[in-house]
Amino acid sequence: MRATEHRLKTAHPGVRCAVVSWLLLAAPLSAWAASGCDDLGGQPIHPNVDWEMDVKPILNNMLGGRCSGCHNGAIPPDMTDNGVDAIFKLVNFYVTPGRPQESQLFIKVNCDVPDSGGRMPLAGANLSTLQQELLYDWIAQGARGESPPGAISRDFIFRDGGESLRESPAESD
Ligand code: HEC
Repeated sequence: MRATEHRLKTAHPGVRCAVVSWLLLAAPLSAWAASGCDDLGGQPIHPNVDWEMDVKPILNNMLGGRCSGCHNGAIPPDMTDNGVDAIFKLVNFYVTPGRPQESQLFIKVNCDVPDSGGRMPLAGANLSTLQQELLYDWIAQGARGESPPGAISRDFIFRDGGESLRESPAESD
């Protein structure tokens, strides 16, 4: 079972919340290009969203997903996993770790009118709210996933509690 913590509970408390609201209201509305986006606010947050277990099955048709039937090489992004990691074709191009609202992978499945092109899956039923939540939370949590041998782990970006695992340089003594 997934946790029942709510997104709204994670909002900044009190004063900071008021300041953030004021800043959002003051921002020009034209800055938001996408429209007709599903509101996921108040839905449960899913901790530790897993690339293999949660995300890939949404994207990869071989796993029951609804994207790689079209996104199989000819139309970017390639969401098949042909021995090369699909995740590396998404992250930094269509996914900005930590920023779902700025990630095309999320915007394209969340909004009727994305920044460009049509809502995904193209000409198909929208992804369920749960599937959209999982993509959002996966990106928000740092878009972690499998790593090919030799890759620098992105695991350090976000830990469960948000704490840093940065290590101090080795000290010679
Ligand atoms: C029926 C075929 C089809 C399906 C299924 C499909 N797509 Fe697409 N997708 C396209 C086409 C064609 C484009 C380019 C035109 C556009 O952006 O609307 C595209 C564009 C995109 C882009 C932007 C690519 C770019 O370079 O700007 C993303 C991100 C994307 N799709 C994600 C998805 C996701 C996630 C799914 C599954 C939930 C999905 N698509 C399912 C056909 C499809």
